[in-house]
Amino acid sequence: MFANLINKIKNSYIVCNYSKMYPYVRPYAFRALIAVLITIPIGSMDAIIAWSLKPYMDIVMVEKSTSSTAYIPLLIIVFSVLQSLLNYTATYLNTWVGRKIANDVKVDLFEKLMHYDAQFFDSRRSGDVLFQFNTNVDTACNGLLANLKLFTTRVFSSLSLIGVLFYNSWQLAIVAVIVLLGALYPLTTLRRKLKALFDKNIFSSSAVMSHFNETYSGNRIIASYNLYDYQMARFKETLRTLFKLGIKMIQRTGMLSPIMHFVVSLGIAAVIWLGSYLIVTHQISAGNFVSFITALIMLYNPIKSIGNNYNSVQLSLMAMECVFGLLEGKPKITSKPGAKPLQSIKNTIEYKDVCFEYLPGKPVLKNINLTIAKGQTIAFVGNSGGGKTTLVNLLPRFYDVKSGQILIDGEDIRNLELNSLRDKIAIVFQDNFLFAGTIRDNILLGAENATPEQINQAVKSACLDEFIASLDKGLDTGIGERGVLLSGGQKQRIAIARAFIKNAPIVILDEATSALDNKSEAIVQEAINNLMQDRTVFVIAHRLSTVRHADKIVVVNYGEIAEIGSHEELLNKENGVYAALYKTQLK
Ligand SMILES: Nc1ncnc2c1ncn2[C@@H]1O[C@H](COP(=O)(O)OP(=O)(O)OP(=O)(O)O)[C@@H](O)[C@H]1O
Ligand SMILES: [Mg+2]
Repeated sequence: MFANLINKIKNSYIVCNYSKMYPYVRPYAFRALIAVLITIPIGSMDAIIAWSLKPYMDIVMVEKSTSSTAYIPLLIIVFSVLQSLLNYTATYLNTWVGRKIANDVKVDLFEKLMHYDAQFFDSRRSGDVLFQFNTNVDTACNGLLANLKLFTTRVFSSLSLIGVLFYNSWQLAIVAVIVLLGALYPLTTLRRKLKALFDKNIFSSSAVMSHFNETYSGNRIIASYNLYDYQMARFKETLRTLFKLGIKMIQRTGMLSPIMHFVVSLGIAAVIWLGSYLIVTHQISAGNFVSFITALIMLYNPIKSIGNNYNSVQLSLMAMECVFGLLEGKPKITSKPGAKPLQSIKNTIEYKDVCFEYLPGKPVLKNINLTIAKGQTIAFVGNSGGGKTTLVNLLPRFYDVKSGQILIDGEDIRNLELNSLRDKIAIVFQDNFLFAGTIRDNILLGAENATPEQINQAVKSACLDEFIASLDKGLDTGIGERGVLLSGGQKQRIAIARAFIKNAPIVILDEATSALDNKSEAIVQEAINNLMQDRTVFVIAHRLSTVRHADKIVVVNYGEIAEIGSHEELLNKENGVYAALYKTQLK
């Protein structure tokens, strides 16, 4: 039975969580240990005050002598001062250790977050990520250590006070301890009650953050469509849900304190009743009794508030569970163990029977078969939503194919080392993300160590030179968060420069020049043509003038390849999709 109990404790979520926490505590183990050890004297000093009342009562009150008890008031002052100093030290150490641990956990989580696959982000709101990867860590680490201090202090204080109880009267002490256990019993049901609420609480709290995020990013849409009422209504709704949850939490756990109060008062009543009998029958002295009652009240008082305390311990533990869930989560798209690095591309890139879907049962790409020789340019055209972007996004493994294979020189890309694969691919996306910082910073993302000449070359090729010359600070001009200070075409050209400077053997241009005027497009197109020399290029474009010189043009319609061929071949096809498309655009 004992082994059973130990097993139960070992498997309990508290022990599991604390043991998972251990690697994070280890670097600061010494300070953490001191912080816990300090709580022993802090807790035990409560007892000294209660204990000293017995000689005081018996000698001063009963024997009416002060000679041998003059030290007691002094003792109480000294101990109180000492206790508060130790308390300060413990709080300081706990905060220090808690923050350090929280930072370390956040670093690990951030690392994890960056390596998550596109699907992970597709299925989450920004608020979720912020809440789970940041706020929850604070709740878990800081809350837990602060509560741990409170908890250990309480434990040692309780133990020493119980010692005082037994010192004064074992009969009364037994009654008091039984009542104590009775008062603590309701706590055992608390976790179950909180768990469901906690999950909902996370959901709503992150929804609040998402509202802020949307209002920030979408402020112009909100203004132009007059969405103030709409946004406000949604925000209020979320706040209302959160409010309800908060109230529910109090309803579920708030009853604990009154119940404890009641049980505790039963205990005190029982002790007074029994104590009077023991005094009258001369089994204990009056000093014993006063000291006992003081210890008892000191013991019970914190217990009355332990309900709230325990509440936040539970919440921290649940936050911790979430955090460890995230830390244990595995990104789906990673390098296989022993994956080979991709050195260079020698012959071909091949899509073989590739099928893909974002959502189960909704195929986006169906049996795609394609071969692209090294150095060729392949262009994709077709209906919007047809799957062109998806098709090229499979190459750097933002997503993995559902079935079929993508091969580079005959090797499945899933067997290649992921970083080396992505290193070989430069992409200009359909909607490019720029980081807050300067134009230079953003271009250098393509190649950290680029020389000033290389930067200038990239700027020129991307037709940015005129624009940059017009800026007071030139390349060092800040572009605002996400590049908000730039025009659409300027953003696109910075993205092109970033891709140029990466100097990768595979280039993917997804509507890369769609936002440029005709003159800039002609210049950039020429630079791209230069860039295309001995590179393998994937071009997606709606404007057919952009793609007519490609070695191969692929028409992707509704997830399937409708036609493949050169511009001339496709034009000469009777009833060809491309030919029809070309004719409408010519008009
Ligand atoms: N992250 C995603 N999650 C779920 N579905 C997606 C996702 N991205 C795209 N889709 C869906 O996949 C289909 C193909 O989208 P894709 O972006 O590949 O089209 P496209 O051919 O590039 O279109 P466009 O010419 O408009 O850029 C669309 O129906 C789209 O709704
Ligand atoms: Mg697209």
